[in-house]
Amino acid sequence: MEHRSIEEEACLPHKHISLLGKEIYLYRELTSTNSVARQMAVSGAAEGTIVMSRSQSAGRGRMRREWHCPPGKGLLLSMILRPQISVQFVPQLTLLTAVVVAETIKIVTGCAAGIKWPNDIFINDKKVCGILAESSFSKSNFEYIIIGLGINVNLGIHHLPSDCQKTSTSLSLELGENVSRVKLLKQFIISWDEHIRGFVKAGHPYLRDKWIKNNVTLGENVIVNKDDSCLHGLAVDISENGGLIVRLADGSLQEFLAKDVSIRKRF
Ligand code: BTN
Repeated sequence: MEHRSIEEEACLPHKHISLLGKEIYLYRELTSTNSVARQMAVSGAAEGTIVMSRSQSAGRGRMRREWHCPPGKGLLLSMILRPQISVQFVPQLTLLTAVVVAETIKIVTGCAAGIKWPNDIFINDKKVCGILAESSFSKSNFEYIIIGLGINVNLGIHHLPSDCQKTSTSLSLELGENVSRVKLLKQFIISWDEHIRGFVKAGHPYLRDKWIKNNVTLGENVIVNKDDSCLHGLAVDISENGGLIVRLADGSLQEFLAKDVSIRKRF
């Protein structure tokens, strides 16, 4: 594989290591780990290849938002997947990633991390991690999926953008001490390998069970923003499409897909 063709990058990989069976490319700085992982996927990188960076100059979030994290303070990584599944099941992989991240944080820090649908990780009602999945497919076949995640690990309150200080947190803020990014990475790989095996073997029932055990959304009154409308309801389940099933005021059940809506908790 030829990484020198990644023209958008300012620097070459800082280091290439193999860890727990995964090929990992570590950078000091790049634009976005998702962008570099995508380039590597196009060049034929193997399933499970991970791109990590200490910092990103153009980190991306969902809904065209930006993702900021000071150098070395977060776990910023993207993993290349080439699953043999049909297009409609891809959202389940992001839900599965959320399960893996929530479990990783619980095991490494003991913090009660919970999933807010679709795939944000919260501790004490504040966001600590976001997940961004980007895929490429032709007809109904997948070429690759890039799963990117950004965990706020050792950020102080002053590192968080001012408009996020009430709504976001970091592991060190919650724990009162710094957390090892290497420990998090290793546990992420161990948990990923366990849960992807379970998901490939048993499908949606496996995912649903794990997601429900780790979520903080079901049973909440939520406000769903879709196009220009704003719907109120009770979050009751997740679907095989990775959608959120909401019981609306008239008693009907409606499925919402992550690409169409954003949700807020109704207090
Ligand atoms: C969100 O909450 O909106 C998703 C944020 C995802 C951020 C991560 S950081 C590593 C990877 N590279 C990116 O450019 N984005 C994801």
